[in-house]
Amino acid sequence: MPINRSFTLVRRPSGMPEDADFALVTDETPGLSEGQFLVRNHYASLDPAMRGWMDDKPSYMPPIRLGDVIRASTIGVVVQSRHADFPEGAWVATLGGIAEYSVQQTGRLIDPAALPLVTNYLSVGTGVGPTAYLGLLDIGKPRAGETVLVSGAAGGVGSLVGQIAKIQGCRAIGIAGGPEKCARLIDDYGYDAAIDYRGKSEQELVSAIRAAAPDGVDVQFENVGGAILDAGLMNLNAKGRVVLCGLISQYNSDPAPSRNLWQLIVHGARIEGFILTQHIARIPQAAAQLTQWVNEGRLRIDEHIEEGIENALPAFLRLFAGTNHGKMILKLS
Ligand SMILES: NC(=O)c1ccc[n+]([C@@H]2O[C@H](COP(=O)([O-])OP(=O)(O)OC[C@H]3O[C@@H](n4cnc5c(N)ncnc54)[C@H](OP(=O)(O)O)[C@@H]3O)[C@@H](O)[C@H]2O)c1
Repeated sequence: MPINRSFTLVRRPSGMPEDADFALVTDETPGLSEGQFLVRNHYASLDPAMRGWMDDKPSYMPPIRLGDVIRASTIGVVVQSRHADFPEGAWVATLGGIAEYSVQQTGRLIDPAALPLVTNYLSVGTGVGPTAYLGLLDIGKPRAGETVLVSGAAGGVGSLVGQIAKIQGCRAIGIAGGPEKCARLIDDYGYDAAIDYRGKSEQELVSAIRAAAPDGVDVQFENVGGAILDAGLMNLNAKGRVVLCGLISQYNSDPAPSRNLWQLIVHGARIEGFILTQHIARIPQAAAQLTQWVNEGRLRIDEHIEEGIENALPAFLRLFAGTNHGKMILKLS
């Protein structure tokens, strides 16, 4: 059996994860039982949510146990099989974790030619793509002509939310860190206005959003939280909708309460959490529409691929430093 390397959790991080929280373990892949197949994992999706799974706290998925492989969505090729539905040579998406090989009993077969690059499946077929599509359309319910405000706008989820909002005929305003990302919001993703949050106080953010959205915000797609969430709330319109998709500014610290929730009362507005795992039945429709838009050239996907399992931690930390340029992916083969 092939030799496997896997990235495991050995200590629960306190604040920002560090080297001593993880171990790179080398061992032989186990033999297969009937109904199992062995996958050579080629690419792993790196997601901010993985930070939450490292904590021993109740969540939508159980905590990663100490000693276990870091949980991650993966795509790879079946290299040995005792499962009729997953033949050798097939590309498959599984929850393979940050490991070069994984033994699986179930997964989703993928057509590597369905999108321009096989990695695009991690942007469109699962994870960030369906999150952007379903979070915006099913929860935010934007109407043509309305204004959509997106935080984390240059990232995997945010870059797609802005583009989908434009396809729906909305005005899109993005918030991101730094002039280079803000230029990409306009030039690459078609946002109507971009706001650089770095170095701005909450009051300055409130003013910047007001200048970009003089008629107010109808849908706030929140990926960040903290002062950015609070500044957006101060610009909500009557019957506004806030899609709470992520709070990345708080994943490595104790969560700070939002101070401006009273704006929801003032405007008869709604805030609703979104978690993709509660919308599984809608994912195929979302993925099919996103795939069509990508292949028609209407939707741009940017992926940031770092290479090698030994680089798993620095690649993951890019999500919190803001040094990822697009959907963060780790190449494992
Ligand atoms: N609810 C769901 O089902 C679901 C599914 C997938 C993702 N999400 C959430 O969606 C959000 C985006 O995820 P993603 O995978 O697409 O990552 P991403 O946006 O590609 O990368 C994370 C970005 O967050 C920004 N960021 C990090 N720390 C920040 C801070 N302290 N303040 C402000 N911005 C900060 C950085 O952009 P800047 O350079 O602009 O700061 C960074 O590039 C996350 O909150 C994630 O948890 C939710």
